[in-house]
Amino acid sequence: MDRIGVLTSGEDAPGMNAAIRSVVRTGLYDGIEMVGIKYGFQGILDETVEQMEAASVGSIIQRGGTILQSRRSEEISTEEGQQKAINNLKRNGIEGLVIIGGRDALKVAAELARKEFPCIGIPATIDNDIPFVEETIGFDTALNTIIDYVDRIRDTASSHEKSSIIEVMGRDAGNLALWSGLAGGAENILIPEKKDDVETIVEQIKRGPSRDKRYSIIIVAEGIVSGIDLNARLKEEAGLESRVTVLGHTQRGGAPTARDRVLASRLGAYAIELLSNQESGKLVALKDSKPVSYSFEEVFTQERHIDESMYDLSGRLSI
Ligand code: F6P
Repeated sequence: MDRIGVLTSGEDAPGMNAAIRSVVRTGLYDGIEMVGIKYGFQGILDETVEQMEAASVGSIIQRGGTILQSRRSEEISTEEGQQKAINNLKRNGIEGLVIIGGRDALKVAAELARKEFPCIGIPATIDNDIPFVEETIGFDTALNTIIDYVDRIRDTASSHEKSSIIEVMGRDAGNLALWSGLAGGAENILIPEKKDDVETIVEQIKRGPSRDKRYSIIIVAEGIVSGIDLNARLKEEAGLESRVTVLGHTQRGGAPTARDRVLASRLGAYAIELLSNQESGKLVALKDSKPVSYSFEEVFTQERHIDESMYDLSGRLSI
C-alpha cells in the first residue's frame, strides 16, 4: 500500500492524538505516504485532505482532543455518501484508511470495508463500550479526571457532612460511572444498564447513609437521570438536599494518561501493520497486553455489557 489516510470521527477522546501520531509515523517509517483527513468522514466528502510528515504530528502525544478535528456527517450514513467517499478517496490516491473513533465511526468503517475499501478501526471513546475491547483509548484518562473531582468533592462533602451527587458522562454506557464509583468509594451508583435498580437505590438514598455515615457520594451516569433531576426528586420525596456537580465536558478534555498514550501508540502501529498486510474490515485492540484484531462483523453482532461482578462489589463495599 503506497498511500494511507487517517481520520478521527465522533466524540473526541484523550489519546486520539497519540493514535494519529503512531499511525502517521509508523506509516512513514514503512515508506508509506500518509495523509490526514480533517473533520472526520465529512472531510472525505469535502476532500479536506492534507499530507502528513513526521513533523506534522510532533508534540501532540500529550494533547487532548484531536488535531484532525471531528464533525458529524449525516451523508456518510447513506449508500450514496459512502460511494462518494470511496470515489473521493480513490481520486486522492488513498488506498487504505485508519478510522479512530467510537461505535458510530466504526460502523461506518465496517460499511466502507464491506464495499471493498480497505479500512482498519481503532477504538477511541471515553465510554469504553465496544464489544470485545477490554479498554478503549480515552477511558483511562476520563476515569482519572472523574476520580480527581470525586476526591475533591469528598473532601468538602465530609467537612460539611453534605451529600453530593456527581453526574458523569455515559448516555448509554455506565462504565465511567461504575469504575469511578468503585474507585471513588461512592455510596450509590446509578447506570443506564441497571434501570430496574433505580427505584431501590432512590429508596436507599432516602433512608440515608448506612452505619454512622453522615453524607453520601452518589455517582449518576447522565443517561439514566440527570443529577439535577435526582436531587429535585430526593428533595421533594424525602426533604433531602445534596450538592450537584455535573462534570460534563471536563471528562473529555485534558492530557491523556500514560496508559492511554501507550495504548494509542500500540494500536496505531498495529493498524498500519494490518493494512500493509492487506487486511481490512477489522478493529484493533489489546488482549492480555498483546495487539489483536476482531472483524467488524463479529464486533457488531455483540452487545457490550457492564461487568456485573464490579457492580455487585460496589454495592457490597458501600455498606
Ligand atoms: O460518547 C462519548 C460521550 O462523551 C458520552 O459519554 C456522552 O454521553 C456523550 O458523548 C456526550 O455528548 P455531547 O458532547 O454531545 O454532549
